[in-house]
Amino acid sequence: MIVSKWLVCQLVLFTTLSHAFTDYLLKKCAQSGFCHRNRVYSENIALSRNSYYKLDAASVVHDPLQNVLHATIIKTIPRLEGDDIAVEFPFSLSFLQDHSVRFIIDEKERTSVNDSGLLVSPQRYKETWLHAFDEKFRGEVSKTNFSESHFLEQPRTGNSLWSKLTSFLSLSNSTSDAIRLQNGCVSLEVLTEPFQLKIYWRNTLKLIVNEQNFLNIEHYRSKEENFAHVLPEETAFNMFKDDFKYSKDDTLPLGPESIALDFSFIGSTNVYGIPEHATSLRLMDTSQREPYRLFNVDVFEYNIGTTQPMYGSIPFMFSSSSTSVFWVNAADTWVDIRYDSQQNKTMTHWISENGVLDVVVSLGEDIPTIIDRFTDLTGRPFLPPMSSIGYHQCRWNYNDEMDVLTVDSQMDAHEIPYDFIWLDLEYTNDKKFFTWKPNSFPDPKRLLAKLNKLGRNLVVLIDPHLKEDYEVSDIVINENVAVKDHNGDDYIGRCWPGNSIWIDTMSKHGQKIWKSFFESFMDLPSNLSNLFIWNDMNEPSIFDGPETTAPKDLIHQNNVEERSLHNLYGLSVHEATHDAVKSIYSASDKRPFLLTRAFFAGSQRTAATWTGDNVANWDYLKISIPMVLSNNVAGMPFIGADIAGFVGDPSPELVARWYQAGLWYPFFRAHAHIDTKRREPYLFNEPLKSIVRDAIQLRYFLLPTLYTMFYKSSTTGFPIMNPMFVEHPELSELYDIDNQFYWGNSGLLVKPVTEPNQSETEMIFPPGIFYEFSSLDSFVNDGINLMKRNISAPLDKIPLFIEGGHIITMKNKYRRSSKLMKNDPYVLVVAPDANGVAVGELYVDDGETFGYQKGEYVRTQFILEGGHILKNLPDHIPDNLADIHNDTLRNTSIEKIIVAKNTSQHNVTLNDTVTVKQDGRERSLSTKLSREDDNRIIIMNPMLDITEKWELTF
Ligand SMILES: *[C@@H]1O[C@H](CO)[C@@H](O)[C@H](O)[C@H]1NC(C)=O
Ligand SMILES: *[C@@H]1O[C@H](CO)[C@@H](O)[C@H](O)[C@H]1NC(C)=O
Ligand SMILES: *[C@@H]1O[C@H](CO)[C@@H](O)[C@H](O)[C@H]1NC(C)=O
Ligand SMILES: *[C@@H]1O[C@H](CO)[C@@H](O)[C@H](O)[C@H]1NC(C)=O
Ligand SMILES: *[C@@H]1O[C@H](CO)[C@@H](O)[C@H](O)[C@H]1NC(C)=O
Repeated sequence: MIVSKWLVCQLVLFTTLSHAFTDYLLKKCAQSGFCHRNRVYSENIALSRNSYYKLDAASVVHDPLQNVLHATIIKTIPRLEGDDIAVEFPFSLSFLQDHSVRFIIDEKERTSVNDSGLLVSPQRYKETWLHAFDEKFRGEVSKTNFSESHFLEQPRTGNSLWSKLTSFLSLSNSTSDAIRLQNGCVSLEVLTEPFQLKIYWRNTLKLIVNEQNFLNIEHYRSKEENFAHVLPEETAFNMFKDDFKYSKDDTLPLGPESIALDFSFIGSTNVYGIPEHATSLRLMDTSQREPYRLFNVDVFEYNIGTTQPMYGSIPFMFSSSSTSVFWVNAADTWVDIRYDSQQNKTMTHWISENGVLDVVVSLGEDIPTIIDRFTDLTGRPFLPPMSSIGYHQCRWNYNDEMDVLTVDSQMDAHEIPYDFIWLDLEYTNDKKFFTWKPNSFPDPKRLLAKLNKLGRNLVVLIDPHLKEDYEVSDIVINENVAVKDHNGDDYIGRCWPGNSIWIDTMSKHGQKIWKSFFESFMDLPSNLSNLFIWNDMNEPSIFDGPETTAPKDLIHQNNVEERSLHNLYGLSVHEATHDAVKSIYSASDKRPFLLTRAFFAGSQRTAATWTGDNVANWDYLKISIPMVLSNNVAGMPFIGADIAGFVGDPSPELVARWYQAGLWYPFFRAHAHIDTKRREPYLFNEPLKSIVRDAIQLRYFLLPTLYTMFYKSSTTGFPIMNPMFVEHPELSELYDIDNQFYWGNSGLLVKPVTEPNQSETEMIFPPGIFYEFSSLDSFVNDGINLMKRNISAPLDKIPLFIEGGHIITMKNKYRRSSKLMKNDPYVLVVAPDANGVAVGELYVDDGETFGYQKGEYVRTQFILEGGHILKNLPDHIPDNLADIHNDTLRNTSIEKIIVAKNTSQHNVTLNDTVTVKQDGRERSLSTKLSREDDNRIIIMNPMLDITEKWELTF
């Protein structure tokens, strides 16, 4: 007994130690000069209560033409001898969209910088917004010779970025200490001494900016004069050098440049967002731990429960009181969070290494509105091709064409649907991107043609690092579009191929060269458009670089330091890739699918992502859910985790549970490390094989519902894997629930089992009726609080419910791929609430092209009334329906309606005949009601089509 227990402990210890990221490669705040300096400053300021920043009231001007308020913020550095030093920071503030406020604090042109010999631009980088904001908000701003006025340039198109002057400013009662502004429901006060902003929604205070006086801008000074510029509360730690072991070569050409500011969210002690971190959905208080860090890095086997940085960064945070802060900065960034339950507020402290303070604050009635505003500003998630929301089979690596085709046919032989098969690094010739290993993939077009028969797709890996000395990297060097080192030479670092250079996709010319590589590589016959791309390692990952990534003093186009735009680089790579593929497929009008590992705010416009190099153990399965939820509430919903763990060999039980959880990820992919045993689903023994097949098939059956949610997300940013508090904000106990979630607004409520040896699991239910998904057994929570219930969850069962009040749409036949489901009719599952009411939406288009942008789609709403009248109310039908119906939409008929029964329906006397009203006529259906069991009524073959308006009574 004792021995075996000891063995178990050893084993646990061993697995924990064998799978962990090498922590010491990454800086702690105390090892990062600017993070440490700002944390120290904030601690000292909290004690001294001094403030060195004031807004010069005399400087305030309102520019009516551009609808912006300008002023100067002055930092005064007291000196014992001689005059105080005053540093000026131009400040501008405007309202944008309907509910947002944007302000920018820049440093006055650094004219004093002695830039002889400097290869980097001495001015602060202020173009992050040009990459993060959606195109419609960018205006026609030239990216070169950027001056302050560009921020304020009014786009020529009639959009809502700058609200009309008339509704904009009521500059009322400006006194020396406060300026009050109002725009609709948003009002704000600008306090001058110390500088502070108070932002209100419907006259309720929601956010205070600089409440704690943590505002800090490290203005330019030379090393020699530095001592005179350091405030009493400041430390001069590592201002001009970096003594962290792995980044001590950083030349820091401009010395200290950091910016920092605090935001207090009033009336809430719950904040969310700032992915990517392997922690809980509700962000943790960081008083006793490291701040959350946003810095794109390659973290193989990342650690769980930490605030360490990961592959992607979205500097967007919101509170449960529906207020958000978008910190428009792509430099290395740290965020401290302190909850104060006594005062019912959350204090946050944001610190970036350089750049300008560019902040958008949004307010609204509810959280979906906040996410809607954010994805309006940074762009909507792209509507993916239907096939890409099916199942993806990946492995590092499928070795050759025969291997790929064997997996392909075995999936069919075992009735496991799939749509995408993936090739990792090893398909290349000697790790040279844009080449194929000649003996293994002698004829890629032949392979693509074979996959294309069933509508299947191939994804190949293409990274931004390019092996030294081959035709592609030679072109990059000759065209002068490689990222440069701090001496201005082409930077050479180590990655998969050994010595490599990096394409500078921040440059327009670099993007053009990058595109030309795809044009040659993807030179396919016109009937083939099923090759897609995966951009990995684009943080960028550099094996011999500091903190596994690029040295901060590398130089991009226009003399911008890597330091200023680090978190944007991955976005620039995948956007350039996307634009290339989209243009290559323009003849067939195919929507590209693209996967990126690194991301930033705005990445959702063109790419999906995943949670990186996870491990095949239960902890990683469990953490995948809050991680996917966090991206979903931060505007980038198309994300999943590698099933069933990238590194290591999962147990059969873990495989089963991971597929049962993973089928709910918006991005549903299995992937495995090169050192793992093969684990394609058909290789499993029973009952595992059937469990996995059932999970994948269920995903396919639900594709119509999922695609409708992707559509909703592409128009409003609405989360697909959706935290419970978004649906039920009135239940404060839900604010930290991240192990159970809704699927969009479909009413499907899931709690994946993420622990071994479970035969049941406890779920929580808001008030309402809930139907168990397969049996339609129902129960009622008729209270006003959450109800806990133990739900049976043996290995072959997913704890899954439909909330009363919803109608979901399915296609219930196994087909080999999503394309082959197109001819299948729909099945409606109707789950009435206590009043016999239910609603559901369905969106249908061709699933492949941009035709939907021309209106070629059908959108309809199903409504159940009184428990026995079901209506179809299409609200969008394409003008050319007759032309495209058989061609691209295919089957839009309904073959079956399943109505779940509950107590409210037992009171309805149901006729055995079913009548349909359509086009002013009424007919009886020949089909009778069937009662398969006590839980459901089934109407077979009602001969109804979703493109037509009808009303069915039963
Ligand atoms: C302006 O100040 C006056 C006097 O303090 C006050 O009566 C008035 O309500 C204020 N107006 C606004 C719009 O705040
Ligand atoms: C915090 O403030 C919000 C908004 O005013 C309120 O709804 C909530 O009940 C408050 N919570 C506590 C614990 O006081
Ligand atoms: C579409 O297909 C249906 C059934 O096959 C057929 O009756 C109809 O004529 C077709 N319509 C068009 C416009 O081709
Ligand atoms: C249904 O009928 C039962 C008894 O016949 C009654 O108690 C209940 O209130 C009725 N429910 C509804 C929704 O009318
Ligand atoms: C059942 O059918 C009869 C005759 O068509 C009709 O009068 C009655 O309203 C129907 N009842 C329901 C519940 O639809």
